[in-house]
Amino acid sequence: MSPEIDVTYPAQYETNVILKDGSAILFRPIKKTDAEDWLDFYRRLSKKTVYLRFQYNPPDMDIEDALRFCTVDYVNSFAFVAEAIVAQRKRIVAVGRYSRLPGGDTAEIAFIIEDKYQVKGISTKLIEWLATVGRNNEISTFEAFVLPENKSMLEVFQDYGFHMKRTLKKAFIILHFP
Ligand SMILES: CC(C)(COP(=O)(O)OP(=O)(O)OC[C@H]1O[C@@H](n2cnc3c(N)ncnc32)[C@H](O)[C@@H]1OP(=O)(O)O)[C@@H](O)C(=O)NCCC(=O)NCCS
Repeated sequence: MSPEIDVTYPAQYETNVILKDGSAILFRPIKKTDAEDWLDFYRRLSKKTVYLRFQYNPPDMDIEDALRFCTVDYVNSFAFVAEAIVAQRKRIVAVGRYSRLPGGDTAEIAFIIEDKYQVKGISTKLIEWLATVGRNNEISTFEAFVLPENKSMLEVFQDYGFHMKRTLKKAFIILHFP
């Protein structure tokens, strides 16, 4: 991580969001202290959801992996968690992230939503928030590689105005935002 980057937690991006079913959820930047909750979140995901995100079946993750996924610099790498209250406890139910590609104004984005929280509009709202943060950090383009069978992700991206190029094995998605 670059020593010049101020890694202060950007609390200004914490925001309450109402989902399509009327339920409330908190979007907030991820932090290192989320590692245990991130691991619980990851272990609740179905195999299909994990496969669609990583495009292979990774072995079980451990706390070191979790820490890696929860460590960002809030400029070149950024992630939002969506946090719901379940049985009076805070629970991570989705993560959307970007990672800047070396030396430019383009970042790769990825989403993963807990199965029972899918199709409630979470990723649609996460894209908007990631684009806002990206713009503030001089990122002008998002890219994503998506499996062609991942109709949900392709639909979310297309609805948001991503331009899509298909290759034989993967759809390559690119968005230049204003
Ligand atoms: C793909 C994924 C991120 C979509 O997130 P989501 O929060 O469920 O998507 P949204 O609720 O914002 O859906 C937006 C639109 O996509 C479409 N859509 C999403 N999921 C769908 C599904 N299962 N079936 C049909 N349409 C679907 C809907 O048309 C919806 O539009 P609407 O507002 O008209 O209903 C989520 O399903 C997921 O985590 N999948 C597994 C991991 C993955 O594929 N990651 C992508 C790698 S980059």
